[in-house]
Formats: sequence, structure tokens, C-alpha cells
Amino acid sequence: MLASALLSAFVLLAAVSGVAASPTTKRSAPPGFVTTKGTQFELDGEPFAFVGANSYWLPLLLTQSDVESTFQTMSQAGVKVLRTWGFNAINGSELAGAKESGLTYYQIWNSSSFALNAGSQGLERLDNVIETAGKHGIKVIVAFSNNWVGYGGSDLYIQWMAPGSTTHDVFFKNPSIITAYQSYVRTIVERYKDSPNIFAWELLNEARCSSDTYPSGPSCTPASGAETLLGWYKEQSDFVRSLDPDHLITTGGEGHFFWTHPRTYWFNGQLVSDYNWNGQAGEDFDRNLALSNIDFATYHMYPQSWYPELDFPGSNFSIANWGLQWINDHINAGNRADKPIVLEEFGLGGLDNKTQIYPTWVQHALDTKHASIMPWQFGVLGLTEDGGNRIIKYSDAVNHGASPNDGNTFYPNQTAVWNIFTRAAEIQAQRSQ
Ligand SMILES: *[C@@H]1O[C@H](CO)[C@@H](O)[C@H](O)[C@H]1NC(C)=O
Ligand SMILES: *[C@@H]1O[C@H](CO)[C@@H](O)[C@H](O)[C@H]1NC(C)=O
Ligand SMILES: *[C@@H]1O[C@H](CO)[C@@H](O)[C@H](O)[C@H]1NC(C)=O
Ligand SMILES: *[C@@H]1O[C@H](CO)[C@@H](O)[C@H](O)[C@H]1NC(C)=O
Ligand SMILES: *[C@@H]1O[C@H](CO)[C@@H](O)[C@H](O)[C@H]1NC(C)=O
Repeated sequence: MLASALLSAFVLLAAVSGVAASPTTKRSAPPGFVTTKGTQFELDGEPFAFVGANSYWLPLLLTQSDVESTFQTMSQAGVKVLRTWGFNAINGSELAGAKESGLTYYQIWNSSSFALNAGSQGLERLDNVIETAGKHGIKVIVAFSNNWVGYGGSDLYIQWMAPGSTTHDVFFKNPSIITAYQSYVRTIVERYKDSPNIFAWELLNEARCSSDTYPSGPSCTPASGAETLLGWYKEQSDFVRSLDPDHLITTGGEGHFFWTHPRTYWFNGQLVSDYNWNGQAGEDFDRNLALSNIDFATYHMYPQSWYPELDFPGSNFSIANWGLQWINDHINAGNRADKPIVLEEFGLGGLDNKTQIYPTWVQHALDTKHASIMPWQFGVLGLTEDGGNRIIKYSDAVNHGASPNDGNTFYPNQTAVWNIFTRAAEIQAQRSQ
């Protein structure tokens, strides 16, 4: 009763003032752009729920036929959104090797500044991925940088621009680093700001106070109140919004909470505070999501590697149940904030673990009306580059035609796992009509 009385009051008001927009639509956007309405996405005014794919390696492929066949595989699986890295920076010392191996790079650090590589071994490859995605009806989430060292992530900014630093929060605070980050972000956003093939901008993959190389600094601990990441997210999301009024913006965070009473669990006879709820990582999921230019939230889920002690005698919960709890807590936070929630990465090692546990997690995400489910990571077979065998960088390799396998990858030939996601994609598509 109360709700409908309020609704008619609004309709009346809207009619009087000539405002046609629905009360919870954030902003109108050009055709083909994704918007939010409450906890759901919309595309051209229709609900848009989906299964997405993570493939950081796509812009590192060398041949257009391999890019095409990857998108074909994704589109056949019902994938609507791809998430990939929009960053790739190398140091001057790596240039000769990069030229020889064909390694994609977008920026090069020459010991005093970053130079852009907009050429055929650089941003043209990202252009091509974004354009080909569109041809297959797939939109792209582009991440601007990485909390981790990989592909020119934040640790390299610190090593190159603030040598001698001892803590990772330097990335979030050092003015020269912030200027360099924003200058690159401006390049990317301006390049694609008119493209309906972009789903959203992502500020950083998995921002944390610590990283591969550096520990947290004193200004980035639970005692200091998660202000460092909150402040950085606010500054960067406002900056991106100033460049691009229309595309969605998200953090790319793992979804750590900062609760006054964090969850606990038993470990080796001791009740321990769970670091994913106690602010230790530096993220405060609820406050980050409340920022006005953060349009939706992301969270990631790797309990097997995050908690080697789960399923341990003396622990009172399992990997499968921990995941259900994590899913619940995020959807509840999204409902409180009235913004969409994306289960943006999750993975388990081994085919048996995947087959046994994914159905429960995916079903729960569907039951709780997650706007999006994006496993880490879809694999493809039959890539032809260098005969189907090529080291890309680090230990990432196309191996006998299969895309890189970090243990979490699942391929189309592994039908028991593959079918979990193709079925989920069908259910999400039905919700989107
Ligand atoms: C970066 O490359 C330059 C040469 O271009 C080299 O002198 C320097 O040691 C390299 N720095 C790192 C951190 O690799
Ligand atoms: C680095 O690049 C900048 C801008 O492109 C240029 O001004 C500078 O001379 C370069 N420095 C080195 C050491 O190559
Ligand atoms: C584990 O035990 C603690 C303390 O009894 C409790 O607070 C927590 O909810 C339990 N976890 C699960 C998943 O049952
Ligand atoms: C499957 O899960 C169990 C329990 O977490 C773990 O010990 C095992 O290593 C996993 N298998 C693989 C292949 O990762
Ligand atoms: C599927 O492809 C992957 C990658 O090439 C391979 O490791 C695996 O053995 C293949 N077959 C099955 C049933 O997993």
C-alpha cells in the first residue's frame, strides 16, 4: 500500500514536471550502452542479465583468425560480456625482446616517462578486440591497471616511478604515479568513449593495500579505516566520469568487507577473525559501492587458494559453504545499496572440484538474481598461433592450441563444466527478455 501510494505520487510529480525518466535509472545513455536500474543492468531499456567471460590474454593474440575463433566460441556458449586487460606496460629493457616475440605492449617506460604505443603491436590490438567483440554481440569490461605485478601493474609503477619505496600504498598516494595512471586512463577512455562495445570501465584489478612485492603501509591498515582505497576510488571514478558521462564505472575489487563484527571461523582450535570481513585488505565493500560514480560492484571468489585451512579437521566450514556465504553477503550489500552486483571472477583447481562445487555456487547466484556471473576463466581450443604453441609472457602460454591454463581454466571439451555455464547463460538470457 505504502509503496503504491508513493509510486503514484511520483508519477504525478513526473507528469507535472515533465520528467519522463524512471526514478532509479541512473542516467540516460546512447543506444547500445548499458545502464543500471536498481540492482539490475539494462540495455536499451530492457533487463540485461548475463554470463560473462574473463580472458586477459585476448589482446595478446597475434592473429585475427584466433581472435575471431575465440569470440565465436564465447558467443556459442551464450557469453554476452568479456572482461579483459586494457593495460600492458613494459620497461625499456624489455623492448627488444617484445619486438622479437610480438608481445603486445601499450606503454613503455623509458626511465623518465611513459610513451604510448598506439601502433600495430600496441593499442591497435585492443581496438581490434573491442571491434571484433561488437561483431559477435559481446560487450567488453576494460580494466585500466592491475594491483599485481602482471602486465605492467601497479608494482611496476612503484618500481619505476618511486624507486626505494617500501610499501604498496605508494601506488594510491604518490602524485606522479596518479598523474601517470590518469594520463593512461584518459587515453583509453577517450579512444572508446563513443563505443557501445564497451560495457564498463574498471579502475584496477583487485585493489588491495598490499601486493606481490610490497606490504601494506601504515596508512593502509584496518586501524586507518580503509580510507586509502576509498579515497582513491572516489578520485579515479570522478575523473573517469568527467571524461565519459555514459559508460558504467566499477572498482574491479575482490569484495572484501570491513564489518564492525567480522565473521569468524575455527582454525586449529582457535576462533579467528576472517580477513575477508575485517578490513585487512584495505577494501570496504559497502562504502566503496556507495560512491556516486561507482555504478555497480564486483567481487571475486577463490576460497581454495585464499584459505588452504578450509575443509581442514578443526575448521567448521567447507569451501562450498564458504562460497555460498560470500555470495549471500554480497547480494545483500547490493540490495542495500540498490546497485547491481557482479560475481566477476571465481575459480577452483581441478576438474572434479569444478564439477562438484560450481553447480551449487552458480545456482545460488542465479537464485539470488545476480546481474552477472563471470567464471575465471573460459578457455578455448584450436588456436593456431605458432602452430598452437607459444609463450605469451611469464608462464602464460598457448599450449597445443589451448588458451593459457592457470589451473582454473575450463575448455569446451570439458563438457560437464562447460555446460554449467551455457545453461546459466540461457537462464540469464530468459531473465533479459
Ligand atoms: C628499465 O629499463 C632500463 C633501460 O631501458 C634499465 O636501465 C632499467 O634497469 C630497467 N629497470 C627495471 C626496474 O627493470
Ligand atoms: C623518454 O620519453 C620522453 C617523452 O617521449 C622523452 O622526452 C625523453 O627524452 C625520453 N627519455 C629517454 C631516457 O629516452
Ligand atoms: C564457525 O564457528 C563460529 C564460532 O562458533 C561461528 O561464529 C561461525 O558462524 C561458524 N561458521 C560456520 C560457517 O558455521
Ligand atoms: C580439489 O580441492 C581439494 C580441497 O580443497 C584440494 O585439496 C585439491 O588440491 C583440489 N584439486 C585440485 C586439482 O586443485
Ligand atoms: C581438453 O583440452 C585440454 C586443453 O588442451 C586438455 O588438457 C584436456 O586433456 C582435454 N580433454 C579433457 C577431457 O579434458
